[in-house]
Amino acid sequence: MPQQQVQIFDTTLRDGEQVPGCKLVTKEKIELALALQELGVDIIEAGFPISSPGDFESVTEISKIITNATVCGLSRAVQKDIEVAAAALKFAKKPRIHTGIGTSDYHIKGKFNSTREEILQRAIQCVKWAKNFVDDVEFYAEDAGRTDNEYLATVVEAVIKAGATVVNIPDTTGYCLPHQYGEKIAFLRNNVANIDKAILSCHCHNDLGLATANSIAGVMNGARQIECTINGLGERAGNTALEEVVMVLQQHKTLGLYTNVNSKLLNPLSRRVSDTMRMQVQPNKAIVGANAFSHSSGIHQDGFLKSAITYEIIDPVDVGADTSKIVLTARSGRSALAFRLHKLGYQFNRNEIDALYTAFLGIADSKKEVVDEDLHQMAEIFATTNA
Ligand code: KIV
Ligand code: ZN
Repeated sequence: MPQQQVQIFDTTLRDGEQVPGCKLVTKEKIELALALQELGVDIIEAGFPISSPGDFESVTEISKIITNATVCGLSRAVQKDIEVAAAALKFAKKPRIHTGIGTSDYHIKGKFNSTREEILQRAIQCVKWAKNFVDDVEFYAEDAGRTDNEYLATVVEAVIKAGATVVNIPDTTGYCLPHQYGEKIAFLRNNVANIDKAILSCHCHNDLGLATANSIAGVMNGARQIECTINGLGERAGNTALEEVVMVLQQHKTLGLYTNVNSKLLNPLSRRVSDTMRMQVQPNKAIVGANAFSHSSGIHQDGFLKSAITYEIIDPVDVGADTSKIVLTARSGRSALAFRLHKLGYQFNRNEIDALYTAFLGIADSKKEVVDEDLHQMAEIFATTNA
C-alpha cells in the first residue's frame, strides 16, 4: 500500500512550555529545538514572540540555528502580534506564522462579544497580514472542536482563499470523541471547495484522555499534520503525546501513513525534556514511562519469557528504551524467578526452583519488589542449608 506522510508539528516549546513550572530559558529552548530537529520533526513551534522579550529572543535564536525543520511562531489575530512574530522569524530558513482566532460560539460570544461574520472577517484579515511576511501561514480556528461544522467550513474556505497553507482544527478543550473529531475533518474535506490547497492539522488536548485517539481519527479522515508535544506536555491535561502518535502510525502500517521521526530517539528525548522542564513522566505512560516495558505478574512474565510478542507490541529497541524488565513481586511466578536467578549466574533445577519459590514468596509478601540483593541472599541461604 502506498504510504503518505503525516507532518509532525512539535509544540513542546510553545504549548508544552505553557505548563506551570515548565518555563524554559533561551539556552534550554535552543538545545531542545536542536534535539527535536534531530528527532525528525517537520515543524518546531518555537514560541509566542509577542508574549515576552525572552520568548522573542528564543524564537529569533532558534530561527538562526535550525536548518531542516520549519520554525513557527504563534500569534493572535492581531496585527502587532503578527509583525512581532515575523520579526522573530526573520532569520528562519523556513519560517511559518501560526495565527488565528476562536471560532466556537463560546469564544465568539464569551471571549470576543462578537458575531460569526465579524470573526470571519478577522480570520481572513490575520492571514492576509501574515502573508505580507511569509509564504507559509497556518491558521488556527481555536475551539474548532466545539465549533459548528457549517460555520467552520466557511471560515476554513475563506482563510485558504486568503492564503493559509495549513489550517489547524484544534480541539482546544479536549471535548470531542474520536468519531466526532474524525467526522469534523471528513466534513471539511468534503465541504470546503478549495481544501486541496491546504493541509488540515490536528491539535488535540487531553482533557478526557482522548488526544491521541482524536489525532489518529483526524489523520484517518484526511488531516496530514499532527500537533503534539514530547511526553504529552501542555495546558491542563496536556496535548497529544508525540511519541504516541508516531508509534501508532509506525505499528499500524495498514493505515498507510508514516512520519519522519526517528523512533529510536523517543526515550532519550523524553528523559531530556523531563529533566529540562523538571516534569516527571508517569511510570505507566505509553512508550516512555518507566514501566512501559516491565512485566510483573506471573502470567505475563511466563508468556513474555516464552515469546516477547505475547505481551509486547513494540520492541523497546525501536523506541530507544532500556531492555524489557522482569520485575519480581508477590504476583510473579516461578519462570520469572528462575529467569532472574539465571541472570545472576545461578543454575537451579526445577525442584530447587520450587523450593526457592516458597522462600521467595515469603520475602515478596513483605516488600514491594524483590531485588537482586534479596535473590543473592536467598540463593546463598538455600545453597548452605542444602549443602
Ligand atoms: O489549543 C489551542 O487551541 C491552541 C491554539 C493557540 C493553536 O493551542
Ligand atoms: Zn493548544
